[in-house]
Amino acid sequence: MALSKHKQDITKKNYLVEAEQKIQLQVSDKVIQIFTPSNGSVSVERDMDVQINTLVDEFLGASIANTDMAFNKVIENFTESQIPVEPDSFDNYIEYLADNVIDNSIHTSSPRFIGHMTSALPCFVRPLAKLMMAMNQNVVKIETAKAFSPYERQALAMMHRLIYNFPDNFYSQHIQNSQSTLGILASGGTAANIIALWCSRNALLGAKDDFVGVEKSGLAAALDFYGYKGAVIIGSELMHYSFDKAADLLGIGTQGLIKVPTDSNNQVNLRALRQAVADCRAQNLLIIAIVGVAGTTDSGNVDPLWEIAEIASSANIHFHVDAAWGGPLIFSEQHRLKLAGIERADSVTIDGHKQLYLPMGIGMVFLREPQFASSIEKNACYTMRKGSFDLGKRALEGSRPGMALFLHAGLNLIGLKGYEFLIDEGIRKTQYMAACISVKPEFELLAEPDMNLLLYRYIPEPLRELALQKQLTETDNQKISQFNEYLQKAQRQAGRTFISRTTKTSTCFGQSITITALRAVIANPLTTEDDIDAVLIDQIQIASELSMPDFLNLAEIVA
Ligand SMILES: Cc1ncc(COP(=O)(O)O)c(C=O)c1O
Repeated sequence: MALSKHKQDITKKNYLVEAEQKIQLQVSDKVIQIFTPSNGSVSVERDMDVQINTLVDEFLGASIANTDMAFNKVIENFTESQIPVEPDSFDNYIEYLADNVIDNSIHTSSPRFIGHMTSALPCFVRPLAKLMMAMNQNVVKIETAKAFSPYERQALAMMHRLIYNFPDNFYSQHIQNSQSTLGILASGGTAANIIALWCSRNALLGAKDDFVGVEKSGLAAALDFYGYKGAVIIGSELMHYSFDKAADLLGIGTQGLIKVPTDSNNQVNLRALRQAVADCRAQNLLIIAIVGVAGTTDSGNVDPLWEIAEIASSANIHFHVDAAWGGPLIFSEQHRLKLAGIERADSVTIDGHKQLYLPMGIGMVFLREPQFASSIEKNACYTMRKGSFDLGKRALEGSRPGMALFLHAGLNLIGLKGYEFLIDEGIRKTQYMAACISVKPEFELLAEPDMNLLLYRYIPEPLRELALQKQLTETDNQKISQFNEYLQKAQRQAGRTFISRTTKTSTCFGQSITITALRAVIANPLTTEDDIDAVLIDQIQIASELSMPDFLNLAEIVA
């Protein structure tokens, strides 16, 4: 009896082991299949491709900017935290993606989505993305990116040449010289700004005599060795918040970011800038860099770069230009003058994923002096050896995808003339929108645009006369700000069109006050004048639906 029970137990155990092995086998089959390149007529990958293409076409073809699903509802779709045990089928997963992710995503390429710096992509991006992902090159080192490394260097050199325009022999000497760095590709403008300031900090506080340099000693010892009381970065109060991140990371603290006031045109006040430099010098503070902004994030205004270059060069200070947004104006014969002085910068940031119309993940920093980035060079024994061609040795990031493919393709497939057209058109349409706003009693233009960003606000009917007479009190302005905040939220929720919002300083009876501004960014080449009209009409309609009692109780509603 006992023996038979024992036999039964063994049989049961064997059965369970077999069943488990069978499941394991299925899993291993499935996993191997996932990794196997398709080569037959029946291919899961091809099926998936067809389904994805349909979804993309539907997504890009939608006429809305946003869905009206509340964000709180969207979050509810993403609360599960268990990883599925078994591999799911592609069909199921695509269905999940379509229902939960794609259906509730923002249509950044919609011609009526004109409120952020993200817009439509050229058609070559999709097929090239497939190529880039399939090749999976890692640009950190040539052992994983043989052709992609010099290919990236070439694309960066083309951009460098556009900014600095050095002679032919400069480029033939440096373009593929492993000891020269004309530009560094990064994930975005934030990383590019950080890299520029990191290079400057390390160059200024480098090894000397028996001192090992800031890189090894850290900031406190380096400042002590060089006899400084501290270190700062100076720029306009409208610098992008990536400089706060840089100041924090570089060890000078955000209090070490000296923010100089701007004039009414949002450009840094030069007298205050000179004073800030003099004050820092008097206090024995090391100035890591002076930053000029070429296209402020809120309103697109450009600092007087030439004059800032004068200040920086006469005081022998590193001059960095943050042209993440406005840099591509350099392609335009008509508008390039607005950037005059950029060619005097020691370093320049430009985002490819903004006005170069490339996909997310392309920021660039360009360096006037090809050896400048040696101050941040790192080596490792298995890669990025001294003297190697590996791009990772002078970069912030380690493993990186071959995003240069899009940059190189954009420069070739759109070209100088193509980019010039895109820049000129964006600015022309922005001027059209500014002109429309100026003649509509419902709106007030808050600043003349320098490029393709526009700030304005809606004035509720009861306050229009006072606004025209410039007699609005601070309380009136607060009410208008609340109204605009409410209007922007309601427009976003309705989802037909989109404009973002920000704040702006303004003067009210001689006092400086902060007001809410509606912010248009007109970069999408497919946005027409009709689309711009439609966006303004949509805002007027939404505003008219906010009844008077709503408006009077707005403080509670907005809160
Ligand atoms: C002027 C400026 N600098 C830097 C950045 C940061 O760029 P990214 O978002 O690519 O990191 C932005 C982004 O809007 C910007 O407008």
